[in-house]
Amino acid sequence: MTASTSIDLNAKIPNNVGLAHDTKLRRALEKWLPNYLEWWNDMGPTDFADKPVYLRTAISVSNEGWAHYDHVKMPDYRWGIFLNPRNPDESTIRCGDDAGRKAWFEVPGEHRNALRRIIVTQADTEPASVEQQRLLGHTAPSLYDMRNLFQVNVEEGRHLWAMVYLLHKYFGRDGRDEADELLNRRSGDEDKPRILGAFNQPCDHWLSFFAFTMFTDRDGKFQLAALAESGFDPLARSTEFMLTEEAHHLFVGQTGLQRIIQRSAELYKQDPNNDVRNAGGIDFDLIQRTINYWFTYSLDLFGGEVSNNAADFFGAGLKGRFRERKKYEDHKVIAGTYRMPMVEGGSLVDKDIPMRNAMNAVLRDEYITDCERALRKWNKVLEKEEIDIRLTLPSPRFHRHQGIYAGHFFNPAGELITEAEYNANRDKWLLVPADNEYLLSIMKPCYEPGKFANWIAPPTRGIEGRPQEFEYVRL
Ligand SMILES: [Fe+2]
Ligand SMILES: [Fe+2]
Repeated sequence: MTASTSIDLNAKIPNNVGLAHDTKLRRALEKWLPNYLEWWNDMGPTDFADKPVYLRTAISVSNEGWAHYDHVKMPDYRWGIFLNPRNPDESTIRCGDDAGRKAWFEVPGEHRNALRRIIVTQADTEPASVEQQRLLGHTAPSLYDMRNLFQVNVEEGRHLWAMVYLLHKYFGRDGRDEADELLNRRSGDEDKPRILGAFNQPCDHWLSFFAFTMFTDRDGKFQLAALAESGFDPLARSTEFMLTEEAHHLFVGQTGLQRIIQRSAELYKQDPNNDVRNAGGIDFDLIQRTINYWFTYSLDLFGGEVSNNAADFFGAGLKGRFRERKKYEDHKVIAGTYRMPMVEGGSLVDKDIPMRNAMNAVLRDEYITDCERALRKWNKVLEKEEIDIRLTLPSPRFHRHQGIYAGHFFNPAGELITEAEYNANRDKWLLVPADNEYLLSIMKPCYEPGKFANWIAPPTRGIEGRPQEFEYVRL
């Protein structure tokens, strides 16, 4: 069995999946490796390839000390393939019609297409975000932040490896073709875009970067957590390990926004007219519109609120709910409904949807609860600074491109409005391209160790016990 904690770190591709004993697979992946590196050089972070970055590299799958920290040039990063260990006897299908039965260690024929689609969709997000963020090193507010950006980037690269391993090992020729395609699509490209909408949106500046890692990487957390409950054992164990890395990405986003809020609060009080922009900071209105923008694009990633696919994936045991095994008792969910407001004849009417069909909404609700936790922390900062402004999450009906609310018009409070009303207010509610000019004007790089740009507060502590003034990137 491959439920191993022993890692082959000296192999060309570090792994704990026994690549040394699987010549055919190893050769296929070693053939994909130079293509991956070519993609990284073309589409990864620009211009910092020769600079040593204080990066963490996964070297173990045990809970204690799974990572090693050192200065590494990004192209030399050791991207590896790691699956969480799991006792095969305890690996079961955790949800749906066959809940409780033994998990699959090979792809069952009847679920082959669905599983491939699930894996490819997840895989596609990983390189996409690296592409979206490739220019941000040039405007980093500090070496600490630059290091965090690059850490996120190399780990998204590793997540791509994690998914490509599954495609190569379990899906034959089709899988290899899909793995090649993952290096051919490009975020925002008209002809060959990335699969999901949020991953084609520009991430032009650090306000968007922090909102992206806060809201879009957080969608990733919930998708990975749902797949960690999959009956397909290698997928479950692979995504489980990805979650270990993902926690830091969410930390970067949540604390990044919190540090902006902290700094904006200080500037708000300093300026005689409470004009944060006049003081060179990011005003709360712009922060709120950025939250509105990235939160709603991230909600789209959960798919339609009413979904046959979601019902099929759950019923087949391919994708569970958040903490399916720990949190729920009934894993079949044959009965039960989910109430959601739907647009009917020009107004909102509550409808009861069979629970299995509402699984995307169930997962999304867990996500919203998680986001609300961060909002509470941010508002605590404002409270402490004795500023009356509060930040909020918009209604999940607002600004949607997927699901039952797409094609209708809502204000951020979730009330149905006309298209004309929406268009007249859009710029007041959402981050718009016109904001970029101002944001880019204040986002001048700040590369001196221990120094931070004027628009963001320093972090409360450094990385891995290192001080703030540590040289996180050696320029
Ligand atoms: Fe990822
Ligand atoms: Fe991530």
